[in-house]
Amino acid sequence: MFPTFALLFVTFLLYQLSRRSLRVSIARLRGPVSPSFLYGYIPTLVQDQAGAKDFQLQGTYGDVIRIRAPLGENRLLLMDPKALHHIFYNSGYRYSKPTGIRVILGAVLGPGLFYAEGEDHRRQRNIVLPGFGSRELRSFVPIFCSYASRMTAYWRSIIAADNSDSAVIEVTSWITRALLDATGEAAFDYQFGSLDNSETDLAKAYAHMALNVFGVPSKLALLVLCAMDSWLPESVSQFLTNIPVPRLNVARNVNTISTKVAKGLVDDKQALLLEGKSNKDIMSLLVKANASEDRKKKLPENELWAQMNTIIVAGHETTTNALAWTLLELARHPDVQTKLRTEVRAYLRKRAVSELTADDFDSMPYLTAVVKESLRFHPTLHHAYRYACEDDVLPLSQSIIDVDGKVLTEIPIPKGTYVFCSIAAYNRNKEIFGVDADLYNPERWLEGTVKPRNDTSIGVYANLFTFIGGKRSCTGWRFALLEMHAFVTELVNGFEFKLTADAHRIRREPCAVVTPTLEGEVDKGPQLKLKVKIAS
Ligand SMILES: *[C@@H]1O[C@H](CO)[C@@H](O)[C@H](O)[C@H]1NC(C)=O
Ligand SMILES: *[C@@H]1O[C@H](CO)[C@@H](O)[C@H](O)[C@H]1NC(C)=O
Repeated sequence: MFPTFALLFVTFLLYQLSRRSLRVSIARLRGPVSPSFLYGYIPTLVQDQAGAKDFQLQGTYGDVIRIRAPLGENRLLLMDPKALHHIFYNSGYRYSKPTGIRVILGAVLGPGLFYAEGEDHRRQRNIVLPGFGSRELRSFVPIFCSYASRMTAYWRSIIAADNSDSAVIEVTSWITRALLDATGEAAFDYQFGSLDNSETDLAKAYAHMALNVFGVPSKLALLVLCAMDSWLPESVSQFLTNIPVPRLNVARNVNTISTKVAKGLVDDKQALLLEGKSNKDIMSLLVKANASEDRKKKLPENELWAQMNTIIVAGHETTTNALAWTLLELARHPDVQTKLRTEVRAYLRKRAVSELTADDFDSMPYLTAVVKESLRFHPTLHHAYRYACEDDVLPLSQSIIDVDGKVLTEIPIPKGTYVFCSIAAYNRNKEIFGVDADLYNPERWLEGTVKPRNDTSIGVYANLFTFIGGKRSCTGWRFALLEMHAFVTELVNGFEFKLTADAHRIRREPCAVVTPTLEGEVDKGPQLKLKVKIAS
């Protein structure tokens, strides 16, 4: 261990000396006192529940906060709309993902969209995007609805077996398998079968993946991660992902299983794909890109597998949590739940068709408002991490005062600055979302409370930062929205959701995504137990 630390320390010193003059500007910004020189404020920030510290610091210091990282390095915690707009919309690829998180995502998924930077990212995104066009997505709606109703059929039988009209159900493990299956069928025309059998290799590999790989790190792990992000060359960071520690073992194991499944899918359909028979589905696009002669359109095989892994994970992991939080808020707000059920039932009665479409979801304004509010209040990612590749100047929506009392309307950002972009806190900006932005209140979307400014607007949907924005916005945001609408419609139509006695112990667990866990039982993995009653 000692030589590793000595190496880290020397690299760090050289690095600090090389940029001493540039650090001054952020060093004078206001921010919380660091409890430790060795670790800085990082453990305090990231070991708390997702977003908790962001909201607290936002209240004290405003939207631009200096955070001390290990050994006195200064970082930014940012929630200022104009500054975020600048980073995500106006800067191209000049702000990259920090190396540490990139190489770990790479270890789980391979060199796909979550990993690639710059030209590689642009090329991959152009290949994948047509698979998420609105026509393709519309054809997925019946698939999403069908898995929603298969899942609720299981719930009905659980309730019936209890000989009553209700049962306590841990909803996340069901939703995640239903969405895994729905993603497999929509994106790859393939049945994973995980809803019927929770023991498939893929379902088992993904069950606790986020928590086991990205769950709250120890202080030591954070130190190593900071070194990978800021001080070490990328090749060394990449090499470090091979060390046999438990969370990296899980990462590599998930990658092995998922890549094997991806290869199986392609092999199964190879003949069809080459004949161009299943033209539109996402897998055909990827295979065609692999065969392309044009370097700008070419997808090498390792990136092909990575893309499939990325779509599988992104297609179910994020939406699972978004839906779980939605059900929790419905259980916490029976009035919202009743109003939503009334709208959905009235609409379904009037419409009287067997299959719903994307337009049907758009015709239910309260449903749309509930989904938007859930995405705002519980963004599945609470932080986006960025690293300044060049010196830059960040414009600010509101001037801030530094520790010397100087008023700043913009801040110089030295190359190499690490920025925690707070999705959770941006989504609670009172100027944009209203003075009650700290409360869950779907009405804000119907009352015209939400007032995005066109010069600072960020997200691809409803001005929410939830799907990131600009070149790195989530490719599958419409896919996720349709999944959510389909599942919420089916769920509130069929069931009433109530809190259990444990509800006060629910934690917003940060693990790359934000997943519900139970205080004192975090090691049991994601869990959200709700009392589920057949709706009268
Ligand atoms: C990808 O392309 C290579 C040749 O460039 C080929 O050997 C390989 O079989 C292709 N892979 C798939 C999955 O189509
Ligand atoms: C933003 O809104 C203002 C006033 O409504 C308008 O003058 C301006 O052109 C808009 N800017 C853009 C980029 O749309």
